[in-house]
Amino acid sequence: MINETLKINKQSWDEEAERFYGRNPLPEYGPLAPTEDDLQLFGDVRSLKMLEIGCGSGHSLKYLDQRGAGELWGLDLSSRQIKSAKELLVNSFSRVKLIESPMEQNPGIPADYFDFVFSIYAIGWTTNLDCTLKNIHHYLKSGGVFIFSWEHPMYNRIKAENGELIMDKSYHEEGSYQHIAWKQPAIMQQYKLSTYINLLIKNGFAIERVIEDASLTEEDVQRHSNRWYSYEKTKAVPAAFIIKCRKL
Ligand SMILES: C[S@@+](CC[C@H](N)C(=O)[O-])C[C@H]1O[C@@H](n2cnc3c(N)ncnc32)[C@H](O)[C@@H]1O
Repeated sequence: MINETLKINKQSWDEEAERFYGRNPLPEYGPLAPTEDDLQLFGDVRSLKMLEIGCGSGHSLKYLDQRGAGELWGLDLSSRQIKSAKELLVNSFSRVKLIESPMEQNPGIPADYFDFVFSIYAIGWTTNLDCTLKNIHHYLKSGGVFIFSWEHPMYNRIKAENGELIMDKSYHEEGSYQHIAWKQPAIMQQYKLSTYINLLIKNGFAIERVIEDASLTEEDVQRHSNRWYSYEKTKAVPAAFIIKCRKL
């Protein structure tokens, strides 16, 4: 059973998948954010069991495959994304499992199994953050690590207009919204950073790192100089945040 929001988002992702093919996967954590090369949050992944939530076209899984991960599982709402990931990972198929499912539901993923669960720019799509974090906690081994990145909650509350930055939404406001960078109906969820942190704590995670740095190298600026992720805006507020935490 999937709710109306998930139906809308699934249809939009199926239609837009091509536009996002291989966009900002690991070692990137997101546009204008520090990379895994800078942060080294994963460390040595050889032989470890990894699960990606919102795996998209599978490029982050491929990166971990190339670093010798033992098992690679990916879950995504969109059939189009799962199809692309299957094609991309065809040569590693004995070690890869790809599942079409919303992250809000457990489609039969084993409990206490994974060394790492991670999610690159997907968690803000969940229609139930509490339940998604509960699921992730359930999949991880005791001591297992959850790493995720998402657009920083300040980023879409500030608009860049005629060289000025305008705060156009209250930081206190949480809930669903239509992202202005999406032409299709696409409903994302907006939370404060403290909500992410408090729900992680509530669901049994110990937080190890919270990263709000921006990466503004010349190369980053060139690559991300579109209207939404801009150098000017990111000089003032981080485009992304990254959290590393551990199952207690
Ligand atoms: C920006 S893409 C992620 C790209 C991918 N993590 C990578 O590193 O290449 C976001 C993904 O989240 C998926 N998604 C959106 N809502 C979802 C949900 N409720 N459950 C699972 N996946 C979802 C979309 O289909 C899309 O593939």
